[in-house]
Amino acid sequence: MDFNEAKNHELVLHKGFNLIKGIHDPDDVDQIYNLEIRDSDVFVLTYPKSGTIWMQQILLLLEAKGDVTAISKLNNYSNADLIPWIEVRGNRQAFITAPSPRLRVTHLPYKFMPPALSQKKGKVIYVARNPKDVLVSYFHFHKLANMLETPKDFNDFFEKFMRGDVFGCSWFDHIKTWFSHKDEMNMLFITYEEMIQDLLAAVERISLFLGKELTDKQLADVVKHSTFSNMKKIPQANYEQVSGDLLNHHQGRFMRKGTIGDWKNHFTVAQNERFDKVFYKEMKDFPLSFYWGIRDIE
Ligand code: A3P
Repeated sequence: MDFNEAKNHELVLHKGFNLIKGIHDPDDVDQIYNLEIRDSDVFVLTYPKSGTIWMQQILLLLEAKGDVTAISKLNNYSNADLIPWIEVRGNRQAFITAPSPRLRVTHLPYKFMPPALSQKKGKVIYVARNPKDVLVSYFHFHKLANMLETPKDFNDFFEKFMRGDVFGCSWFDHIKTWFSHKDEMNMLFITYEEMIQDLLAAVERISLFLGKELTDKQLADVVKHSTFSNMKKIPQANYEQVSGDLLNHHQGRFMRKGTIGDWKNHFTVAQNERFDKVFYKEMKDFPLSFYWGIRDIE
């Protein structure tokens, strides 16, 4: 990673996908396609701000059988050091020789990832979140993250998101493409909202999918240490050890609200109507529906 380059918060369009200068190296990203995949590899796939850190926390705790002290003693490491982004400069090389199980996260679209995943090698977990809350969370994250341009105002960011003019590009394309390959892969598709609704049920599904065998007490411990209120207190989950060069910790916290429906506090009626129109057009053939507010899950 090159902090100085990243501070220019420049997006570089590479093969139709925006990368962040200084954080990603296009040549390196291209090489990800050629990685050999082991059956024990697990990739968490997310569009930014969909709960990546949450899934990292759950996977770390499942590995540790719910023993949070095993993670908290690694105080100098963030969740992203322990379960790194495969696309971040320097991380691909380390992946090749890393011991199993290799747990990684990625925001990349399908086309950059190794085709072996589509031959049911390794496992993938796609975490989806309703895109209105993603937009709001991403807006706040742009203020916090020095490698991303601070939006002029909410409307400015709203328009950028709708154009896909952000790292991650179009939310609609990301989810639709990955979902269309679901049956070729060992994929668990799970939503942020389901995790909010019943975290224990979500953790049990994830544990089963990964073939883990935890006792009820261990599963309960995983849940306990991955709730929003508990994660908020953990420095690793707030990227507190990440240099101020990358995250401006005075601008807010990474663990911000952790809820469903915060978009209602941000969207104007006109923005909402516009969003719904685009959403309907883009997602009319998508077989799953989304929860847009906390009441939807009650
Ligand atoms: P908000 O900004 O809406 O609060 P990512 O890791 O993909 O960047 O996602 C970050 C978002 O997930 C933030 O959303 C963060 O608060 C939320 N999040 C992280 N851990 C969570 C948890 N345990 N429960 C609920 N939300 C969580």
